[in-house]
Amino acid sequence: MLILGIETSCDDTSAAIVENGSKVLSNIVSSQNEIHTKYGGIVPELASRRHIEMIWPVVDEALNAAGVNFDDISAIAFSFGPGLIGSLLIGTCFAKSLSFVKDIPMVAVNHLEGHIFSIFLEASPKFPFISMVVSGGHTSIYKVSGFNSYEEVARTRDDAAGEAYDKVAKLLGFGYPGGPLIDSLALKGNPEAIHFPRSNLKDSFDFSFSGLKTSVRNYILKNPESPKEDIAASFQASVVEVLTARTLNVCKSLDIPRLTLSGGVSANSSLRRHILEMADKEGINAYLPSVHLCTDNAAMIAAAGYHYFKSGIMADFSLNPKAYIRLNSAND
Ligand code: KG4
Ligand code: ZN
Repeated sequence: MLILGIETSCDDTSAAIVENGSKVLSNIVSSQNEIHTKYGGIVPELASRRHIEMIWPVVDEALNAAGVNFDDISAIAFSFGPGLIGSLLIGTCFAKSLSFVKDIPMVAVNHLEGHIFSIFLEASPKFPFISMVVSGGHTSIYKVSGFNSYEEVARTRDDAAGEAYDKVAKLLGFGYPGGPLIDSLALKGNPEAIHFPRSNLKDSFDFSFSGLKTSVRNYILKNPESPKEDIAASFQASVVEVLTARTLNVCKSLDIPRLTLSGGVSANSSLRRHILEMADKEGINAYLPSVHLCTDNAAMIAAAGYHYFKSGIMADFSLNPKAYIRLNSAND
């Protein structure tokens, strides 16, 4: 069964063809980094306009690369939120129009659920598992008991980890997205050069990254000559330590020895190394998607959409995208 996935929640226009929720036949991502980098962050209006230009070519390319046409598609899965409302509108309107014209059923997928399901494109962790979704807009830990069964155990109280990466990169004078730039710069720096704070909220697994960002900002103002490599490495050490410790603590406290990572920040080389190493020490199985499946892509949306279609949970034409929506209310 082939699902056409469509993802436009932020600044990547993506379409994919996925067979039976796991086999990727094509996964085309058109990035807008070049457009937004000079602003040091995403400009929502420019993102929407670019989605309009790219959505047809990207869908066409996904069909061609998979060697299929619309007659072969069982359902269209699209992300309906959370995200930038203008961006979401393009994917949602496109999916609705296509569904109407080609008479193909459609299913609506929560973007965060898509991230969680990215792992099923390459592996099959047993339920339940603990899943950290760590991206530019979100940093949450879920207990995943099955398809459509998610419990948010922790979330960020302020900035997402990716947002902190992007803002620190901007403070250091780099463009957008900051995560990959800091990741490679940090390889040349000393992670112990500066001790930035590690947030630890009392009686909670929740995260907070705004204090860390302010601390980096103050440090840069006071020490303008300090090597950027050391600042990047020390900032990253704080983020990686907190993300790893918190996820493993949730696994231990809920007695679930399996975890998955997803979202753009899970592409981070230091986080991947550290969490694999620490999980191994604790006897926890850590499942990490390949780097290209960590950042936004439509294959993950098709992977989750497959389960909606199989369960007969279809979207209808009255559905509107939602900029803010928690995962456990995906079908409310
Ligand atoms: O999942 P994603 O593509 O979009 C959202 O749903 O937000 O994540 C994008 C975020 C950006 O903040 C970007 O800086 C961060 O992921 N990111 C990284 C890396 N690659 C992307 N952060 C740290 N290290 C990376 N290698
Ligand atoms: Zn995302």
